[in-house]
Amino acid sequence: MEKTKIIMDVDTGIDDAIAICLALGSGAFDVLGITTTFGNRKVDVTTKNTLKILELIGKTNIPVSKGAAKPIVKEYFSPEKSIVHGADGLGDMENPLPEPTIKETGMSAVEFMAKTLAESDEPVTIVPVGPMTNVATLLMTSPELKPKIKEVVVMGGSMLKGNASPVAEANIKQDPEAAYILLHSGVKIRMACLDATWNGYVSFDELEDWKTDNKLSRIFYQMCGIYSEHYKLRMKNPGLAMHDSMTLAWIARPELVKSEDYYVTVDIDGRYTYGMTVTDVNRVTGEKPNVTMSTDVDRVPFINMIKEAIARLSSEMK
Ligand code: BDR
Ligand code: CA
Repeated sequence: MEKTKIIMDVDTGIDDAIAICLALGSGAFDVLGITTTFGNRKVDVTTKNTLKILELIGKTNIPVSKGAAKPIVKEYFSPEKSIVHGADGLGDMENPLPEPTIKETGMSAVEFMAKTLAESDEPVTIVPVGPMTNVATLLMTSPELKPKIKEVVVMGGSMLKGNASPVAEANIKQDPEAAYILLHSGVKIRMACLDATWNGYVSFDELEDWKTDNKLSRIFYQMCGIYSEHYKLRMKNPGLAMHDSMTLAWIARPELVKSEDYYVTVDIDGRYTYGMTVTDVNRVTGEKPNVTMSTDVDRVPFINMIKEAIARLSSEMK
């Protein structure tokens, strides 16, 4: 199978950490690099978390470049503790992952993306699973590189309910202007939105197996304590949503994700709806579709892909 060349853009985060493992353990991707952004925590923390995960799974050759510390227009507010990902962004485990010994490239995320695209002999897929600030900045500063972007497969948005406001999804709400720039850039976009990602869950029973499956799943089991509580108590979901992983599963196995092409924009003015993705489901605007929106996922094979990637990485771990 030919591997898809990707750059991941992450705000690591528990589900980001799992998505990194899916990218590197599935065998479906050539991960050219990982760039980081503020989001689930401050960018220094999400960058460190990314390095910690790569070191844990022994993929220390993947270049990591630090990106945006704040949104394009607004300020960034980081609460002392994320109610979803903990204070350290990786679930505040009793035995936290050690400080990383590997370092970032020293290039900024946008510099890394631009250089990688410019040097690649084939178009590259960008996979943002946090606020879209880095990719929006790239599109503004290097528009000539658009033809080198095969597509952007992003985790964000929703057609119905939000998770960061009644109507806004977290990655978009953190930087609505960036999402707006991306959506109206003319590049090919697939959006793994909440309407499908909430259905892509590891059930609470299935999570119990992670305790004993293998060494890496055991670490994720411990990491998922707060995350699991959030989905059980606050979101009332049947399990832990694997939001960020859905982007990768959709690329590797498109048949797992149902989708529709729609015209989608983002509210960047609204008092109550700031950051809401507005989807023209009834096709009343006359605008041409600009986004392929996920509408559902085949949950069991999707979760099995994640489990298999974790098992594979675990068997290679020292
Ligand atoms: C998104 O928000 C973050 O908390 C997750 O990592 C995911 O990218 C879900 O709305
Ligand atoms: Ca994320």
